Amino acid sequence: MTNRVVAITGGSSGIGLAISELFLKNGYKVAIFSQSLKRMKRFKQKSPNNIFIFSGDVSVNEDLEKFYLRCNELWGGIDTVIANAGIALPENVTDVTEDSFNKSIDINFKGVFFTVQKSVAYLNNRSSIILLSSIQAQRGAGIWSVYGATKAAVRSLTRSFAQELAGKGIRVNSLSPGVIDTPILEKFGFDEGNLTEMLTQVSVKTPLGRIGKPNEIAESALFLASGAASFITGADLQVDGGLAQI
Ligand SMILES: NC(=O)c1ccc[n+]([C@@H]2O[C@H](COP(=O)([O-])OP(=O)(O)OC[C@H]3O[C@@H](n4cnc5c(N)ncnc54)[C@H](OP(=O)(O)O)[C@@H]3O)[C@@H](O)[C@H]2O)c1
Repeated sequence: MTNRVVAITGGSSGIGLAISELFLKNGYKVAIFSQSLKRMKRFKQKSPNNIFIFSGDVSVNEDLEKFYLRCNELWGGIDTVIANAGIALPENVTDVTEDSFNKSIDINFKGVFFTVQKSVAYLNNRSSIILLSSIQAQRGAGIWSVYGATKAAVRSLTRSFAQELAGKGIRVNSLSPGVIDTPILEKFGFDEGNLTEMLTQVSVKTPLGRIGKPNEIAESALFLASGAASFITGADLQVDGGLAQI
């Protein structure tokens, strides 16, 4: 695994941070793209020569272009791209504004599309792309109408990218987490009592009886990136404690 390179968006928090830590531990060089420099700098201290940090916005194509260019100058080709950056804005259909709608589409859909498109020129042979979807892509819930649709779009991109890029030896898969304990939960803006109540309800409905941990998604990403997944492409791996499976 030594000298393999992973490029990940949103690698500074939650699931992305757990993925960055696990890939680093497994000998990868890790290139992280997210907005907050402060959190990325903290992570870089773990292994300064093996971590490249870049502050940018996934909805700005120029930022993505610069990120891949600098990553390539530093380490050469990329072996794994993980389009993980995302936001979740819970809003009833009647409360969604044009601005919040556009923000979700720009980050969760357009951002994922161009995270992949801008990476293609830098991908090594037998590389792997992993897109973060969600079990919400296949479920219905009023407050998640826009979010769920962006994640369904990501599932769709997985299939099309897998078909198009297979000829270059590139595998493309998505990961659909259930509810995972990350800072995204606090960003929902629910008051503490309502959040606790929601998480309790989710745990009760989940066959494994709890919400997930970021590292459980990271382990799945490491598998999809590895040779152990060499015949898997176009697939969606759902890591949700069974919540959406039964
Ligand atoms: N946690 C869950 O229950 C869950 C379930 C299903 C799917 N997911 C998906 O998993 C992914 C990671 O979620 P998480 O729970 O780890 O969330 P998180 O802790 O809030 O992390 C989100 C990451 O995305 C980055 N990001 C957000 N907007 C960005 C932008 N415009 N440009 C660049 N980076 C941006 C953030 O960095 P900055 O703060 O620096 O912008 C942060 O590093 C998301 O796609 C999410 O939809 C999560």
